Amino acid sequence: MGAISLVLSCFVSILLLTERVSSESLEEKQALLAFLERIPHENRLQWNDSDSACNWVGVECNSDRSSVYSLRLPGTGLVGQIPSGTLGKLSQLRVLSLRSNRLSGQIPPDFKNLTHLRSLYLQHNELSGEFPASITQLTGLVRLDISSNNLTGSIPFAVNNLTLLTGLFLGNNRFSGNLPSITVGLTDFNVSVNNLNGSIPSSLSKFPAASFAGNVNLCGGPLRPCKSFFISPSPSPDADSPPSRFSGGKKSKLSTAAIIAISVASALVGLLLLALVFFLCLTRRKRRGGGGSRTKQTKPAETTTRNVPEAIPPAGGASSSKDVTTGTSSGMGERNRLVFTEGGVYSFDLEDLLRASAEVLGKGSVGTSYKAVLEEGTTVVVKRLKDVAASKKEFESQMEVVGKTKHPNVVPLRAYYYSKDEKLLVFDFMPSGSLSALLHG
Ligand SMILES: *[C@@H]1O[C@H](CO)[C@@H](O)[C@H](O)[C@H]1NC(C)=O
Ligand SMILES: *[C@@H]1O[C@H](CO)[C@@H](O)[C@H](O)[C@H]1NC(C)=O
Ligand SMILES: *[C@@H]1O[C@H](CO)[C@@H](O)[C@H](O)[C@H]1NC(C)=O
Ligand SMILES: *[C@@H]1O[C@H](CO)[C@@H](O)[C@H](O)[C@H]1NC(C)=O
Ligand SMILES: *[C@@H]1O[C@H](CO)[C@@H](O)[C@H](O)[C@H]1NC(C)=O
Ligand SMILES: *[C@@H]1O[C@H](CO)[C@@H](O)[C@H](O)[C@H]1NC(C)=O
Repeated sequence: MGAISLVLSCFVSILLLTERVSSESLEEKQALLAFLERIPHENRLQWNDSDSACNWVGVECNSDRSSVYSLRLPGTGLVGQIPSGTLGKLSQLRVLSLRSNRLSGQIPPDFKNLTHLRSLYLQHNELSGEFPASITQLTGLVRLDISSNNLTGSIPFAVNNLTLLTGLFLGNNRFSGNLPSITVGLTDFNVSVNNLNGSIPSSLSKFPAASFAGNVNLCGGPLRPCKSFFISPSPSPDADSPPSRFSGGKKSKLSTAAIIAISVASALVGLLLLALVFFLCLTRRKRRGGGGSRTKQTKPAETTTRNVPEAIPPAGGASSSKDVTTGTSSGMGERNRLVFTEGGVYSFDLEDLLRASAEVLGKGSVGTSYKAVLEEGTTVVVKRLKDVAASKKEFESQMEVVGKTKHPNVVPLRAYYYSKDEKLLVFDFMPSGSLSALLHG
């Protein structure tokens, strides 16, 4: 019995071995033939199917000729969609160049099978659709050139999946939206001539302006500084300073009383709701034996603050100096900080926030809410309060209380910012559309 199975398995393995040697890359050869058969191309590109595929024009095999190593067919008049179920079978492919043809449509999803691919050159074609999802799974890619096509949509953050990537060329397409922060070790990068907007992430700002030129609305990095939705950027030496970033505030002076009334009313309601939570906290602390009333001061690690001196709002010089004089106890470093509430889930600073791309979620009586997408992909809601007359101390103590609120129906406050002219509250972003209603309710 054992002898028979031994013989049988020997026989089977010999069969497999001879098949592998003789059929070389039969499947790959057929895949290549199917590719060429199904795609219109120039007549001079002919593959003789009685010859080994490794001898064909544009095809290169690995050293033992068992599989196709590279396929280069630049400028061979290929027209139309790349047929699926063909090139995706060249599982050992390292280099694929189909540049300078008239390929259109989308890259077939089975490209994700080309897991060994190191270089992909598809530039100068007419490919359309979104950034091909299959490409972000080719984690061996070192160079990716899909420039000069007709690609749309956003550049996915998943590009960071390509950890070995050094060259990324996306120029001359119709990509839109924000540039994601790409932190892989790129040495060459080009997104010029697209429809990108928003700020250039700091991870990409080392590249020259020519890498970003020709986009509608990109800013920061090597290009002009961004105008933040929240606070205008620090005045640069040769600043053509923006006229007045608070022009909107002046128009609504008449409603100040109403706003104060509303603020006070909502604060009261909020405080009532909070009273219970607060009371519970206090009693629990007493039970623990901590008699001190200001226990928060004993855990400074939980309240992270970051100092961003460059981001000082350039409003009136007088108001700034006033801020300095009020903050006597802690010095002037106190002034322009994003103060994080307890439970620190975020690790950005004011500068990151100012660089974030923002869109208006809603306008209410007490201010405007923005959805802000930070470079690393974090999304938060920033509420910019308008005409708040609280002093810094009042504001801070209020925020301390709000920051401690933990209630399923209350969006947690994550951070706040206070300066004389600007008060910002940072909340978690709730993807459901009800957020703006929540904030303005
Ligand atoms: C195809 O290759 C075979 C063997 O290499 C050769 O005899 C034949 O002439 C070739 N056909 C053409 C059209 O080149
Ligand atoms: C791609 O790989 C998957 C699994 O590895 C396989 O099922 C599929 O047939 C492959 N596609 C092609 C076109 O080879
Ligand atoms: C990232 O790469 C892994 C394979 O390494 C893949 O499974 C995953 O789907 C990729 N993620 C995206 C978003 O493409
Ligand atoms: C690019 O796509 C748009 C529609 O998405 C189409 O109108 C246009 O002709 C395409 N351009 C090229 C060069 O294929
Ligand atoms: C950027 O463009 C997208 C769509 O192209 C748009 O939804 C978004 O509002 C724009 N953002 C800014 C800051 O212009
Ligand atoms: C990016 O590509 C454009 C043309 O598409 C070119 O003019 C520019 O010089 C390139 N930028 C870099 C940094 O190579």
